[in-house]
Amino acid sequence: MTDFVAVNEVGPRDGLQNQRVAVDLAGKLRLIDALVDAGLRSIEATSFVSPKAVPQMADADVLFPRLPARSTVAYSALVPNARGLERAAAAGVGEVALVLSATETMNRKNINLGLDQAVDVCVETLKSARALGIRTKAYLAVAFECPFEGPTPAERVMALGERMLEAGAGEIVVADTIGAAAPSAVAALFRRCMAAWRGTPVSAHFHDTRAMAIANAWAALEQGVRKFDASIGGLGGCPFAPGAAGNLATEDLVLMLEQCGYHTGVDVGRLRRAAAIAGELVGHPVGGRSSAWLAAQERRAAG
Ligand code: COA
Ligand code: ZN
Repeated sequence: MTDFVAVNEVGPRDGLQNQRVAVDLAGKLRLIDALVDAGLRSIEATSFVSPKAVPQMADADVLFPRLPARSTVAYSALVPNARGLERAAAAGVGEVALVLSATETMNRKNINLGLDQAVDVCVETLKSARALGIRTKAYLAVAFECPFEGPTPAERVMALGERMLEAGAGEIVVADTIGAAAPSAVAALFRRCMAAWRGTPVSAHFHDTRAMAIANAWAALEQGVRKFDASIGGLGGCPFAPGAAGNLATEDLVLMLEQCGYHTGVDVGRLRRAAAIAGELVGHPVGGRSSAWLAAQERRAAG
């Protein structure tokens, strides 16, 4: 039996939140439809954050109820606080993602709270979500390096993860928000996470700032991680974390996994179509590092 690796597509949220052009509702739905069509079964569709902070996500309340209904697709949304959870619940969200940055300054920049207050808000929101029967996951952002405070101590990441699990988080996502980690550091941190949090799904979120995202995914895979975030065409970046380039591209991740014998259920050819739509919507070409090779394959196949 081939080993299954789950791919959580974050393009509609992480990918579009930082674009200069605000993609309209119809465009977002077109993109998500293409992603579903490519076989993605886990999609972070939007965020219920302050429209003043992130205008690109202001349409979350109307977007979520209109997502292509497929019983096999699990859609999630990011929420920063109780207000976000309330909006998400009203929109019918089945899974929410909380983001806890591992440093004081990153929390202040991102959600205007210090680390201790951010922990409290995440704990409360996780508990409320559970009470509402909404599934949860907790991101540990800037888990390797913070753009303001430098290297993040692994001890702190582990301690924050524990707090999130105690509060009932159903999954932990360890995130290299600015794409500063190298595979050696990724292996070391995920080794600890996988040992400490047996029985809890642990997934990985990489950005490709230093061209190490795919190598980092491999390093995490070797530690037993079987769920990865990725973004179509490599779109992405946090508006509040300077220096964050795009995410690991979904097509690069799927290509690597399938070539290594893992099963993802995702079709790379159809991902290319989704990437073309994403490029059209944001007004510039997008694509992972494998783009040129994939395009050449398509031309050959077309004769
Ligand atoms: N959705 C919509 N509006 C919200 C909200 C939410 N989840 N949370 C707060 N607000 C509104 C408040 O109602 C208030 O509105 P008003 O000015 O009309 O009265 C306003 O935002 C300010 O509220 P306050 O609680 O003081 O928040 P803040 O200004 O300190 O901002 C956050 C805090 C968390 C709302 C904001 O920083 C944010 O949305 N950050 C998200 C960052 C993000 O998405 N980062 C990328 C992904 S990690
Ligand atoms: Zn990200």
